[in-house]
Amino acid sequence: MKVLILQGSPRANGNTAWMAEEYKKAAEAAGHEVKLVNVSRKKIAGCLACEYCHGKGEGACIQKDDMQELYPLMNEAEALVLAAPIYYFTLCAQIQAPIQRMYCVNKPSKVSKMALLCSSYSPGVYDGAKAEFRNICNYWQVEDMGVVTAKIDEQKTEDTKQKVIDLAKKL
Ligand SMILES: Cc1cc2nc3c(=O)[nH]c(=O)nc-3n(C[C@H](O)[C@H](O)[C@H](O)COP(=O)(O)O)c2cc1C
Repeated sequence: MKVLILQGSPRANGNTAWMAEEYKKAAEAAGHEVKLVNVSRKKIAGCLACEYCHGKGEGACIQKDDMQELYPLMNEAEALVLAAPIYYFTLCAQIQAPIQRMYCVNKPSKVSKMALLCSSYSPGVYDGAKAEFRNICNYWQVEDMGVVTAKIDEQKTEDTKQKVIDLAKKL
């Protein structure tokens, strides 16, 4: 399966980047083709709601930023994994932007499964992110493979690594 992981944390040695790498290793070990993109290093603006894409643009976005590199990857992917730190009780903006920029084509055309990897400092802060993730799965009519979360005392632990490996087995 072609798997695309979008990693949204700007902290290269943080927990989200670590979970994304562990997921990649586990998925590759199972024979999947995995592409991991650190979207926090990309310049991806929010949707302008200009509707160019639904008119003259015929599905193309008018904004020529780094999302142009992501569109082909999103449209080739069969499974999509979002890896995001919690910022203010929801998915970080770095992950929200590429998802919302899919407005031009409505959904990634081949994705049939999605998973979410999330990091936070505190416990009990995942409701917003989980709800958003599940709403997107429903809206795009893709299978929700599940969510792994790691608050501060669960980060980079063997237990969390095993949960990430188990999640990758659902591909
Ligand atoms: C702008 C910002 C907002 C944050 N908001 C929350 C929050 O609402 N709840 C929480 O538990 N942690 C919050 N955090 C802490 C991060 O979620 C936490 O440090 C997480 O481990 C970061 O992931 P990373 O290690 O992959 O970068 C916030 C951090 C930043 C920088």
